[in-house]
Amino acid sequence: MTATNHIGKATPRVDGRAKVTGEAKYAAEFQAPGLLYGVVVSGTIARGRIAKIHTELARAVPNVVEVITHENRAKTAWLSRSYADDAAPPGSPFRALYDEEIHYNSQPIALVVAENFEAARYAASVVTADYETAEHQTDLKTVRHEAKEPSKRRDGIEPPASPRGDFTKAFADAAVNFENEYITPIAHHNPLEMHASTVIWEGDGAITVYDKTQGVQNSQGYIASVFGLSTDKVRVLSPFVGGAFGSGLRPQYQVFLAVLAAIMLERSVRVVLTRQQMFSFGYRPETIQSVALGSNKDGLLEALRHRAIANTSRFEEYQENIVNWSGALYRCANAAYGYELAPLDLYTPADMRAPGGGLGTFALESAMDELAYATGVDPLALRLLNYSERDQNHNKDYSSKKLRQCYQQGAERFGWDKRSPAPGSMRDGHELVGWGMATGIWEAYQMKTSVKVSLSSAGLTVSTASADIGTGTYTIMTQIAAELLGLPLRLVTAKLGDSSLPASPIEGGSWTAASVGSAVQTVCLGLREELVKQAKKMPGSPLTKAGNEELIFADGRIALKSDASRSVSLMDVVAQAKDGKIEHEGSESPGLIDSYRYARFTHSAVFAEVKIDDELGIVRVTRLVNAVAAGRILNPLTARSQIIGGVAWGMSMALHEEALLDHRYGRYVNHNLAEHHVPVNADVPEIDVIFVDEKDDIINDLGIKGVGEIGVTGTAAAIANAVFHATGHRVRDLPITPDKVLAGLPWER
Ligand code: MOS
Repeated sequence: MTATNHIGKATPRVDGRAKVTGEAKYAAEFQAPGLLYGVVVSGTIARGRIAKIHTELARAVPNVVEVITHENRAKTAWLSRSYADDAAPPGSPFRALYDEEIHYNSQPIALVVAENFEAARYAASVVTADYETAEHQTDLKTVRHEAKEPSKRRDGIEPPASPRGDFTKAFADAAVNFENEYITPIAHHNPLEMHASTVIWEGDGAITVYDKTQGVQNSQGYIASVFGLSTDKVRVLSPFVGGAFGSGLRPQYQVFLAVLAAIMLERSVRVVLTRQQMFSFGYRPETIQSVALGSNKDGLLEALRHRAIANTSRFEEYQENIVNWSGALYRCANAAYGYELAPLDLYTPADMRAPGGGLGTFALESAMDELAYATGVDPLALRLLNYSERDQNHNKDYSSKKLRQCYQQGAERFGWDKRSPAPGSMRDGHELVGWGMATGIWEAYQMKTSVKVSLSSAGLTVSTASADIGTGTYTIMTQIAAELLGLPLRLVTAKLGDSSLPASPIEGGSWTAASVGSAVQTVCLGLREELVKQAKKMPGSPLTKAGNEELIFADGRIALKSDASRSVSLMDVVAQAKDGKIEHEGSESPGLIDSYRYARFTHSAVFAEVKIDDELGIVRVTRLVNAVAAGRILNPLTARSQIIGGVAWGMSMALHEEALLDHRYGRYVNHNLAEHHVPVNADVPEIDVIFVDEKDDIINDLGIKGVGEIGVTGTAAAIANAVFHATGHRVRDLPITPDKVLAGLPWER
């Protein structure tokens, strides 16, 4: 019913110009008359209590307005459940400045508020505290044997799948069997934009909050609940987000502190965290995983067990799905899973880019590589041998699964068939060359989302409270609406990141394209019906007798398919409407019956080449092909960017990132971007992204599965497997730093 082809077309970001010109404003850039600046004072012990906090020196600094601590803060909600936001795991959420208790090192202990940033920053540096310290524990390896199953399940997170068959017997009887342990360290999100909130005091008891968040309505609900405000007095905006990766799913303490200060002082207040303070809240937890595989002599899986231990905080039980991916990926009759948590004196972990999936596929796909060498089967052939046509964890068919095509197309692009199988057998001058591959998998989620569209002489506006954390949400909203209404992109304006817009979930889990996209489609179809009805009523309308299926929306007109000259202009329809506009609002949810019947996943095959200096042990990723099956790709340009970003995350996990704790103090020692390494441009090679054709008629009307996190999963294992192929030395604890590589290099050259 449309003639334009915006969906599926490589479309540059509609907000690109605003971003490169600086016109796009982020949370810390909004201004207000008389704006105050809040700077956070971070505590210096891991556990105990504040015996005395010294604020006199800070108060004496000129232009300091207030120093807020647990002793003088305004009252906030008493019940801990009032602090639980949409993404909170079970437990009692952290409450900044609540009392004298210290739960983790770098916990905020005061907010210094001043007329200017410099005064606030200086004054914050002279706030000190006397502490009574208690014993703390921040080392997962020390307490791993005390780990327990979570006492309560986290909403939306699948618990370990039920066991099937008899793992113990099948493992013992298998011709080839082994169990290995894989370790991943704590890592922090570190988006370019630090967490920030600007609270505008509106003077009538209302506040407008510019918050760095992945969900404005989540922040709004949290603020209203914590401060006892009605939601119509709290408006949260987040039109642009400078990266978040999960760190903005939950409201963070800077928004709490900024609102607290605004309410206490009845002034507008901005709080921005420092880079060091970006290490003082959620992070990817440390994990110790063990994978046990048993197969026949040809590599056919007979037994599989995947268990994980992860850390959480003492106040919340953070959970993610680390261990279930194996049952969704490989056919195996005897399988068992386990997942346990050990509390540490750290902040609660947070979802971080493919939470659980990046971690789980590292262990599983490393183990599959080990099985390939143990059986002498090519790693790709091994995956094909154990290919699963059905999700055995849930005993469901897949809504679609074109992973086979990912393997084929990825292998062909990479040149996998030219691989010399023996470890250490490929070389390029002084560098050892390794080729490794792995599978990626992520869930294809969809969440209920509401959208409003409004057509006037100025064009079409399409709005929802969703976020665009850099993924391209503005752009896909624009594309879908433009296609359905037969309009050029320039006549469509997307609005999001405002809690006053129609309800939308937090942007996470790679679900936004499917959720917002489906809702935009449904609501635009509703608008079309309204427009057709009005167009038929127009005086002398040539469409009066036409059935809906005989009409097409194209070039700003509703026309007869059979005779495009018989048409009505949308602008004419709008011109005679009440108020000069026609609006429609509605929502879309995932199909319940279908989601009950079908397993929904995105898949990928990742092929990596590494070159390793044979004296220094430095690993370079020199080539990487990621072939992705993720349903319909709305915009190959922004989708490709999502995969490239995901691959960089996977590389980072494999080779760079590790937040190091000094356990004596329970404190991160590399809490800055000089020492918490992430890949820079020089580390990232040309990444070859393939989207295989995957039509999914079940998942939603547009066939959208979503991309982003699928780029992370599998990537770390592909690189680790390439390192093994280059050296014959298996590194099972990330990141693969030169010291770990050197320990296994063949020195007898
Ligand atoms: Mo992502 S960890 O779902 O923001």
